[in-house]
Amino acid sequence: MILCSDPKAQYLSHKREIDEAIRRVLLRGRYILGKKVDAFEHEFARFLGTKFAVGVASGTDALEISMAALGIGKGDEVITASHTATATAAAILKVGAVPVLIDIEPKYMTLDPHELESAMSRKTRAVIPVHLYGQPADHAPIRRIADRRGIAIIEDCAQAHGALYRGRPVGTFGALSAFSFYPTKNLGAFGDAGAVVTDNLPLARQCRSLREYGWKEKHRSVSRGWNSRLDELQAAVLRVKLKHLKRDNRKRQALADEYRRRLVSSGVIAPKVRPGSTHVYHLYVVRTKARNSLQAALKRKGIQSLIHYPLPIHLQPYFKTRVRSVGKLPETERAAREVLSLPMYPQLTKLQLHTITDSINEFFA
Ligand SMILES: Cc1ncc(COP(=O)(O)O)c(C=O)c1O
Repeated sequence: MILCSDPKAQYLSHKREIDEAIRRVLLRGRYILGKKVDAFEHEFARFLGTKFAVGVASGTDALEISMAALGIGKGDEVITASHTATATAAAILKVGAVPVLIDIEPKYMTLDPHELESAMSRKTRAVIPVHLYGQPADHAPIRRIADRRGIAIIEDCAQAHGALYRGRPVGTFGALSAFSFYPTKNLGAFGDAGAVVTDNLPLARQCRSLREYGWKEKHRSVSRGWNSRLDELQAAVLRVKLKHLKRDNRKRQALADEYRRRLVSSGVIAPKVRPGSTHVYHLYVVRTKARNSLQAALKRKGIQSLIHYPLPIHLQPYFKTRVRSVGKLPETERAAREVLSLPMYPQLTKLQLHTITDSINEFFA
């Protein structure tokens, strides 16, 4: 079986370093918020070029803590794309705000800035552009509109560690930015983990307090807060993997080039990279009207493919009565019918990729 993503393959390719890092944490005897977390936070902030990173328990928590740090809550609205992971909308609901869902740009699959202004109301507090599949959302027009309306930008970088927009890493544009280190992500832990990054010291302090009971110092809560800490084992693993992230992203990009070359005359539409951006291919997502039958044909050949995402947020049973969507979102609904994620991870071999592309070309022959 060729898997769609394979975090175990990544472990095996850095096994010696990871085993050693884990062993050291186990022997040291401190397991939550210690030296490894501090070191990882500094190294991740340096990698991005931001001042602060705050390790938390997941990417969903990173979004929630970012909104809470800005004081967003009940009665507020937060705009994002309906074509995203459930987590983005779930985090908005969790702080008590209403997700306002807009359509995507069909070419690049990220939030359509043209839809932004008409989605705003007096209750709008923030917009969350999602750098979906590893492709940066179009920050410049989003920034222009957000600044004009006095609205904060919180980036959802869960799928785009290391992606660049006009030469600058995503995660450096928003007031706060949220990262997930779910095991299959470009930078993945061996469990749930996440981080908020920001250049703003008071916001960074607020996030640190929110992740631990609203403490200002130990045992002295000055605001609400909860338990969303990063543990030492995950931080130790992330420190090892961060060293390899640039190279791993380049491998993903080389595989994407190979996919594009070999699928050029097939019936699928390959992903397009926004000019002036780099795409880090957390997912390699093609489009075809024959999506379901192609997926079944690949499965018969032992090739796993997945759908990100089959049901837009505004059509999901729980969300549809709790969100506000603007218009009909036709591009989002079309994407949900056509997208297919092909196997993509740094350890995928060329031979495996050729098996996949041969199967796709055969299907359309
Ligand atoms: C776009 C997006 N946002 C947020 C998240 C939430 O991250 P986590 O699973 O670490 O909570 C994910 C990951 O699943 C994601 O893909």
